[in-house]
Amino acid sequence: MKGIVLAGGNGTRLHPLTFATSKQLLPIYDKPMIYYPISVLMLAGIRDILLISTPGTIPQLRALLGDGSRLGVSFSYAPQPEPRGIADAFLIGSGHIGGDDCALILGDNLFHGAGFPEILRTAQEELDGCVLFGYPVTDPERYGIAELDEHGHLMSIEEKPLQPRSDNAITGLYFYDSTVVELARGLRPSARGELEITDVNRIYLSQGRARLIELGRGFTWLDAGTHQSLLEASQYVEILEHRQGVRVACLEEIALRMGYISADECYSRGIEMKNSSYGHYVMDIARSMA
Ligand code: TTP
Repeated sequence: MKGIVLAGGNGTRLHPLTFATSKQLLPIYDKPMIYYPISVLMLAGIRDILLISTPGTIPQLRALLGDGSRLGVSFSYAPQPEPRGIADAFLIGSGHIGGDDCALILGDNLFHGAGFPEILRTAQEELDGCVLFGYPVTDPERYGIAELDEHGHLMSIEEKPLQPRSDNAITGLYFYDSTVVELARGLRPSARGELEITDVNRIYLSQGRARLIELGRGFTWLDAGTHQSLLEASQYVEILEHRQGVRVACLEEIALRMGYISADECYSRGIEMKNSSYGHYVMDIARSMA
């Protein structure tokens, strides 16, 4: 399965923070925002990852992440000159996807919860069409909303409904089979001029090939698109890391645990950051798994 992180957009809700830099490079506590979605793909066992961003941001992403070899994965980069919609990722990424299945994650989404790697594995194994992930929210009129029947089968998907049929928001992580590229090629821009991911999901639903996994209580899903949610995400990570003594979305640790790099390689990554507590954590993890 191939991975795509969609990390473009204008980040207008974060102005003036995002006039001179990209939203996905802003910090969530101790690491850049984009580490969080990348960590999800790496935890899912996906090692071939395309990062899509604005032309101006790509050199910065490249400086941060390189070609991925230092984490035992492959990062490639593609520009999205204008935010033409989330489903545009499949047109930009068609060459990368080739004939494979594909996981798409939005660059400002943070997922955290026990058992997430298992959930991701199951979603891949059982993929027949598309798998979406739902999360209960208090403001459903702001999201794509999923309605399930009493057996948990997906019944409907509505984009930003005025009268939501549920509070089950569709999060920014999507698994698709290889037909998604053809399907995206047939989309027309919506009234707001974007290629809508909801339209893609609805087509799969109409084919009876869309499934939703509910990420319930005990799970955290945040997007860091506003000043308040950006701060809350930082506070969440800070509290968790200090209480539990573990780091969320530490890419070096995930690479080591997934067997993408050796303990020696992981230790070297830590040394390179030895003046930061993050670097010390990476060194400690490497030592404990040597
Ligand atoms: P949004 O939050 O909808 O858009 P944005 O990031 O530009 O922010 P704002 O509303 O403040 O202007 O996008 C969600 C994520 O998807 C975010 O990581 C940016 C990304 N995205 C793209 O990369 N390209 C696109 O065409 C769209 C619509 C979103």
